[in-house]
Amino acid sequence: MENLDGLELIIPVYSKRPLVVSRAKGCWVYDTNGNAYLDFVSGIGVNALGHTPECVLEALADQMRRYLHVSNLYIDPLQAELAKLLQGFGFSSRVFFANSGTEANEAAIKLARAYRNDTNKGVCIVAMEKGFHGRTLGALSATGQPKLKTPFEPLLEGFAFVPFGDSMALEEALEKPTLAVLLEVIQAEGGVNTASDGYFAEVSRLAERSGALLIVDEVQTGLGRTGKPYAFQHVGLKPDIVTLGKALGGGLPLACMLARPEIAESFKLSSHGSTFGGNPLAVRAGIEVVKTLQSDGFLAEVESKGALLSKGLRALQGEFPSIQDVRGKGLLWGVELQAGAKCVLDAAFDLGLLLHSAGESVVRFIPPLSVSRQEIETALARFKEALKQC
Ligand SMILES: Cc1ncc(COP(=O)(O)O)c(C=O)c1O
Repeated sequence: MENLDGLELIIPVYSKRPLVVSRAKGCWVYDTNGNAYLDFVSGIGVNALGHTPECVLEALADQMRRYLHVSNLYIDPLQAELAKLLQGFGFSSRVFFANSGTEANEAAIKLARAYRNDTNKGVCIVAMEKGFHGRTLGALSATGQPKLKTPFEPLLEGFAFVPFGDSMALEEALEKPTLAVLLEVIQAEGGVNTASDGYFAEVSRLAERSGALLIVDEVQTGLGRTGKPYAFQHVGLKPDIVTLGKALGGGLPLACMLARPEIAESFKLSSHGSTFGGNPLAVRAGIEVVKTLQSDGFLAEVESKGALLSKGLRALQGEFPSIQDVRGKGLLWGVELQAGAKCVLDAAFDLGLLLHSAGESVVRFIPPLSVSRQEIETALARFKEALKQC
């Protein structure tokens, strides 16, 4: 066992499993005792290409010898290259680079306010109940989960909440002057909650009719997680602003806000900034991630492997009445359990399968996009055993 002196000095905002990380490769994490864990958490959606992918390692090794950080005061061609590559995903935009999902959402909230700056007072951003947008005060104010927010009140003014999936509630909310509608296409942290295509068509129609901007948070669902570059592309939403994070940096902290050009213009010199945003190492990794996602057949494979995973989970639903629902898309799935997620998560861990919850009762499957079919079969077998034990 490693020397863990000092662990007690870390503020325990995360409940940690007894896995002392030694190394990680592909879909596997190894502890200091030599145990191997099949990773269906992938750094909570970060390790899209798996752990320590060769293309990222090579790019980083090269970049480390060139420059680690200069400043956003000077021109970094890497940022330009990544911004250009991102256009290839089909959302024509201007880019602001940040370090985390919450920061990307802060940028989105500020940009929406800057865009309508004459009329902000008393005007709301309408967000979704059970939505999750981050832990900093702006993104937290937009998050629709009271238990995460109440200890930190007063939060930012100017947010209203409606139930996700309820277009009538949205229509009513939009009767008041509204800056923007902010939503995830699949509420990942909130329980892997999905909504019908018809709902999203209504969201588009209502936002357009009211003149509200449409901000789609793709921090968890974006970059191929659902089998398309962006989850909104499955449901025909036409966003004005999109936020990305997690998978973008291939394991390094990188996020961004994408905004339609005419909206992005509302950020002027000094409107916003970040010392580390678009850090060269992270961007170099991001370039490799995006190139890989855009390589031939990669996303088709995600879709096909997602179908295998969902079929396996649905088969288990037939066998175990404790499974109340199986929902998701691509390689993001939630299994809702009557008795809550804890017992199954603990049992899966003991069986060498890393899974995470989404809310109290949902077990979330979010493997690397590079997962193999064999690894999916292994995960399903271990999950089945965990269900049996509970
Ligand atoms: C949809 C969504 N938005 C924003 C965030 C916040 O991202 P970060 O933890 O990188 O700040 C998350 C994190 O889980 C998320 O799932």
